[in-house]
Amino acid sequence: MRDLEQFFNSEFQKLSKLDCVQIVPDYQGRNVEFYDAIQGEYQEDVQFYLNKIGKGPLKILELGSGTGRTAIPLAKAGHTVYALDNSDDMHNILMAKVPTELKNRIIPIKASMTDFNIDVRFDYVILGLNTIFALAEEDDRIRCFKLVRKYLKGEGRFLVDLMLPSPEDLKNTKGKYELSVMETEEGKNCLSVVFNRYDAKRQIMILNYLSIDMEKDDKVKFFITPAVEYYPSPGEIKLLLRNCGFEIELFSCDYEGTPFEDDDTKRDLVICARIA
Ligand SMILES: C[S@@+](CC[C@H](N)C(=O)[O-])C[C@H]1O[C@@H](n2cnc3c(N)ncnc32)[C@H](O)[C@@H]1O
Repeated sequence: MRDLEQFFNSEFQKLSKLDCVQIVPDYQGRNVEFYDAIQGEYQEDVQFYLNKIGKGPLKILELGSGTGRTAIPLAKAGHTVYALDNSDDMHNILMAKVPTELKNRIIPIKASMTDFNIDVRFDYVILGLNTIFALAEEDDRIRCFKLVRKYLKGEGRFLVDLMLPSPEDLKNTKGKYELSVMETEEGKNCLSVVFNRYDAKRQIMILNYLSIDMEKDDKVKFFITPAVEYYPSPGEIKLLLRNCGFEIELFSCDYEGTPFEDDDTKRDLVICARIA
């Protein structure tokens, strides 16, 4: 999806014209500073990958690898992880965290997950932690899933993990604002105002972020970020996998393997697919 600024609401359009406000794309620039503070501690999915994949050395491709929350533990378990991401800033954080002894087991690939070319075939491809949300256009989803099929070994597996939208998310068609305060490890405070609105026709959540960074010297900086998240339905993902040449081995509502249909209270979707 191009030109995300079109998704700014009228107030954010006004903000975007002010000289003191900087527009920063998602997962770039100052937006990466808070990623580990927000997501870094989450471990349940990492444990699932470690259990599922087992001991190395296998070849793993992680699509949208971010700051290495998953890639680093997998490399520690003996695997070689190709960490594909289209953000240099996320890659820089990842590579700064990789211990020297693992440097040859984490291979950063700067590319889009809808268009990449690697001279390797993989035992596992991971599209974790809601990264499917970035595939907002149908063509992107098909391109990405067909590439995964191409780069998987015959006995390889495709692991997908996402959170389905809540009924409240889907009802939020008028939009609402949320306010929060965060602190980086360096002690910088950030006031974050998020406007989100669900566009039911396009099945996307439109997100407008305003971040006000409060530096130690009392300086204040304003940043705005447009973002869009695709919210697939379980049926769509099944169809997408089938149409791109996969068969589903696991379709679960948790990391323990409970069949998705058996628990209406959970919103997680954990999938393992193999080549049909
Ligand atoms: C939700 S984060 C997940 C990071 C990491 N996998 C984790 O579990 O912590 C999504 C990541 O996908 C990357 N990303 C978004 N769109 C992408 C695309 N089209 N191609 C490659 N990477 C993309 C972002 O830069 C970001 O690092």
